[in-house]
Amino acid sequence: MMAQTILVTGGAGFIGSHVCEALLARGDRVVALDNFNDFYDPAIKRRNWAEVVRSGGSRAVLRTGDIRDAQLVESLFAEHAFDGVVHLAAMAGVRPSLKDPLHYEDVNIRGTLTLLEQVRLRRGLRFVFASSSSVYGDHDQSPFSEAHDVRRPVSPYAATKLSGELHCFAYHHLHGVPVSALRFFTVYGPRQRPEMAIHKFVAACHGGGPVPFYGDGETRRDYTYIDDIVDGVVRALDRCVGYEIYNLGESATTSLSELVEWIGATTGRPVPLDRQPMQPGDVRLTCADISKARAKLGYAPSTDVRAGLARFVHWYRAANGLG
Ligand SMILES: NC(=O)c1ccc[n+]([C@@H]2O[C@H](COP(=O)([O-])OP(=O)(O)OC[C@H]3O[C@@H](n4cnc5c(N)ncnc54)[C@H](O)[C@@H]3O)[C@@H](O)[C@H]2O)c1
Repeated sequence: MMAQTILVTGGAGFIGSHVCEALLARGDRVVALDNFNDFYDPAIKRRNWAEVVRSGGSRAVLRTGDIRDAQLVESLFAEHAFDGVVHLAAMAGVRPSLKDPLHYEDVNIRGTLTLLEQVRLRRGLRFVFASSSSVYGDHDQSPFSEAHDVRRPVSPYAATKLSGELHCFAYHHLHGVPVSALRFFTVYGPRQRPEMAIHKFVAACHGGGPVPFYGDGETRRDYTYIDDIVDGVVRALDRCVGYEIYNLGESATTSLSELVEWIGATTGRPVPLDRQPMQPGDVRLTCADISKARAKLGYAPSTDVRAGLARFVHWYRAANGLG
C-alpha cells in the first residue's frame, strides 16, 4: 500500500500515541492534533508524543490545538492532503461526564462535527470514529452485537458517543463520507490513562494508597489490550467503506474481583482497596461480539488479560523507575 497522510486527533493520548506509532512504522505520515488538556497530567501526553517522534522522526507532525477550533481545523486540512482521519480526541470516561455533561457534549459532539465539516469537502476521505462499548448501556443480551438496540445510554459520555455515531451516519448519507465507527471495549496497556481502573490498581500496589473498589466485585468487563485495539483501528482505516460499526474487544470477560486478584498476583503485592457502592452510570457487564470485525476486517485479538496485565505491570515499573 502507498504511504498515506493520516490526521490522528488525540494523537498524544493513550490510544492515539500507539495508533500514530503503528502508522509511522508502516511508512505513513501522521499529523496529530491534540490540545494537551489537563483531564490528566499533560506531561504524560508530552512523553507519549516524544516517544512517537522517536519512532517516526519528521514523518510525525504535531499541531497543538482544539478540534472545536474551526479555523485551525480548516487550515490543517488546507495544509495537508489527508487520506484519512482517525478521530480519537474526546473527553473520555463515564463518571466524570456526570459532573460536566455540557463540556462532554461540546468536545465530543461539536468537536466531531467540526472535523466532519472539513471531511465532507474532500471526496473519499476516510473517517474512523472512536466510539465506545458504553453505547450499549446496561445491556443484558451478552455478547453485545452491533445489531443490538442502543437507545438506552446510561451516562452523558455514552450519549455523546452515540450522537457521534449518528452524526457520522448523517455525513455518510448526505456526503458519501466513508466511516468506520469503532466501539472500543475497556482498553489497557502501556500509557493507559492514569484514572482508569487497571492503572489505578497497579499504582496502588506500588504505594499509591487505597483505591476505590466499586460494588460487590461482580461487575464484568471485556478488557482489550492496546496492541489488539491498534490493529483493529488500522484495519478499519484501511478497509473503510460505506458506513460500518465494529465492536473491538477481546470477547472475554473478567470480574472486578478477578482483576484485583490477578493484579495482586502479578505485582506480588495485594491491592489496597477502599470499598464503595456501585456508581451511577456504571454498567454491570460489557462483552463484545467481535464476529463482524473478524469477518470484515480480519481482526483477531490475541492478548488475554493475564498476559496483558503482566505487560502493563512491566511497563508501569519501567515508566516509574521502579526497576
Ligand atoms: N481507553 C478506553 O478504554 C476507551 C474505551 C472506549 C472509547 N475510548 C475512546 O477512545 C478515544 C481515546 O481514548 P484514550 O483512552 O486514548 O484517552 P486520552 O484522554 O488518553 O486521549 C484523548 C486525547 O485527546 C485529546 N483531546 C481531548 N479533547 C481535545 C480537544 N478538544 N481538542 C484536541 N484534543 C483533545 C487529549 O489531550 C488526549 O491526548 C476517546 O475518544 C475515548 O472516548 C477509549
